[in-house]
Amino acid sequence: MKAIIPVAGFGTRMLPASKAIPKEMITLLDRPLIQYVIEEAYLAGIKEVILVTHTTKSAIENHFDTNFELEWQLEQKNKCDILASVRSVCPPDLTISSVRQSKGLGLGHAILCAKEAASTDNIAVLLPDVLINNVLSNHSTDNLATMINRFDNTGFAQVMVESVAQQDVVKYGIADFKGQVEQGNSGRVNGFVEKPDVENAPSTLAVVGRYVLPKAIWSYLEKLEPGAGGEKQLTDAIDALVKDEVVEAFYMTGKSHDCGNIEGYVSTFVEYALKDERYAGCVKRALQSFG
Ligand code: G1P
Repeated sequence: MKAIIPVAGFGTRMLPASKAIPKEMITLLDRPLIQYVIEEAYLAGIKEVILVTHTTKSAIENHFDTNFELEWQLEQKNKCDILASVRSVCPPDLTISSVRQSKGLGLGHAILCAKEAASTDNIAVLLPDVLINNVLSNHSTDNLATMINRFDNTGFAQVMVESVAQQDVVKYGIADFKGQVEQGNSGRVNGFVEKPDVENAPSTLAVVGRYVLPKAIWSYLEKLEPGAGGEKQLTDAIDALVKDEVVEAFYMTGKSHDCGNIEGYVSTFVEYALKDERYAGCVKRALQSFG
């Protein structure tokens, strides 16, 4: 299975931080945000990642490429730990390629741009604004692996969801799901609606930004018309797929971290720092010193 990660967006909610660097390259502790997302895919067993990118975002590809000069310098200076961390950015058995999305026509359009590169494979889609894998939490790295496993065993598309407050449904794709599903399990959905009004939302189960989809999805993406916000929405393609095939909502364990806006990014930064033994002490001391 190949993973598609759409990174072509301008990151308007992260401006001005994202004016000259891709929002995906903003750092969280010791690595850029995109590295967490690619690590999540790799830990779930994915060995091929396709970035759907834009001319202004080459820093992302550079980050995952080898920097011989840097490695040579670190080797000469015997900085073994730093060298190891630089080399671990892209494991040798992980391939990262990229395609361009030259027009911002929406998430559904972005994924469709990767069709040729993904060839006839089933796909996982990971949205880079959302972090799931708190490296230090016990279970959350398993979410994507569980979804892939369930897809492999059943053939049913998997869309990761979590519960959100009623007033927040307007920000997400929302599952039309009437039954009960426990965290870590999947349940069949009747459809999805992208950014519904509070009054019309079919549930409060929001799409988190992780999808495992059958190759059949391509034909639905090709037929997409502009939807919410005038954009071609991945949610609408999945909603169309639901009419013909079983699609399940996978209720994630742990919680997601939205790093696509400044507030979410700041609170994620503090949480990750406090949970990481390398930084927890200094962050706690700093917070105490501020009173
Ligand atoms: C996208 C998806 C939406 C999903 C959200 C998760 O929306 O279209 O269905 O719930 O990501 O973060 P965006 O945040 O790009 O508006």
